[in-house]
Amino acid sequence: MSKETVHVGLIGTGAIGSLHAENLMRRTRGATVVAVMDIDQERAHAVAAACDGARVYVDAGDLIADPAVDAMLIASTDRTHADFAIACIEAGKRVLCEKPLATTAADAERVLRAELAVGRRLVQVGFMREYDHAHRDLYDLLKSGAIGAALKFRSVHINPRFVRELTIDSVITNSLIHDIHSARWIMGEEISSAYVQWAPVDRAHPRSARLADIQVIFESGAIGSLEYNGDSGYGYEVTVEVTGETGKVESASHPSPSLRQAGSLSRAITPNWPQRFAHAYIDEVQAWIDAIGQKDATGPSAWDGYMSLVVAEACIRSAETGQPQTTHAIEKPALY
Ligand SMILES: NC(=O)c1ccc[n+]([C@@H]2O[C@H](COP(=O)([O-])OP(=O)(O)OC[C@H]3O[C@@H](n4cnc5c(N)ncnc54)[C@H](O)[C@@H]3O)[C@@H](O)[C@H]2O)c1
Repeated sequence: MSKETVHVGLIGTGAIGSLHAENLMRRTRGATVVAVMDIDQERAHAVAAACDGARVYVDAGDLIADPAVDAMLIASTDRTHADFAIACIEAGKRVLCEKPLATTAADAERVLRAELAVGRRLVQVGFMREYDHAHRDLYDLLKSGAIGAALKFRSVHINPRFVRELTIDSVITNSLIHDIHSARWIMGEEISSAYVQWAPVDRAHPRSARLADIQVIFESGAIGSLEYNGDSGYGYEVTVEVTGETGKVESASHPSPSLRQAGSLSRAITPNWPQRFAHAYIDEVQAWIDAIGQKDATGPSAWDGYMSLVVAEACIRSAETGQPQTTHAIEKPALY
């Protein structure tokens, strides 16, 4: 290990935590995982063993305080993110925190204020679509002015099948939060109001959500539609399109080649998120490591984490009232 190698501490060694660990150890440059922690110690030991014998901690606070750890990756359950991120900021450590930054806008604001107190950006939030080529190409085309000002954003987020019973609230905070962030990032402006409709899994459980659709209005008056399918039965897809004053851009949705055979034309659809966004996860952690030598963190910020939750809460209020709801946010601090 050279002196320039970033020593990473990892909290949460489940599906995404173990993927990030593998990417840091085998598919990126400049970092190594030296310590891990999970309340499931068996998982922690399994991931540590795959990280050249990284140290296993029982207590997250002890890991964050370890002077041998330069930077922290938080990939534990949603409700743990805000407190762990704040502890990392207070320890002066850079942190890649999985989405959502918190489970409420108030908790995300606490993270934001901790960062403001140290006066620099230490947090990158795991909105990895910013590192996906299909999204990036669409973003660059839009920013080049190719279709004039954007008038409408549309995204479709398709999951293969339910892994657990989901309520409309958890679909918004855990899954649609990605689409909310994409909408803000790609349109380059905030969402001012949101209206939610959804189809339940069955009528006996009206707050369960199989399909959901968020209609949004942006500050400029542009409009948007964010569609989610939790149980398509056929694969995993995320697509985006933007209609502008002089044209329309659509993201490339199928990285696989098309096949003409036996009288049919077909194309494989990626089966799940780890495959669809495999490259984005690698580029995301590489960008995080590369920025550690710079003064401020780059990529999706704590402000993005906060604002996406402000919109998510407007969506949840809409789901409760059946009415469109305006968003209520603090003024954007100069740091962002
Ligand atoms: N960016 C993405 O595309 C993406 C994809 C998947 C998951 N995620 C996010 O990553 C996080 C983890 O998701 P996952 O799919 O890996 O879930 P998971 O259930 O597979 O793993 C979560 C892990 O966190 C551990 N954990 C729970 N409480 C803890 C605590 N207090 N301290 C330490 N560890 C604790 C659990 O034991 C488990 O091993 C979630 O917040 C999820 O929203 C993001």
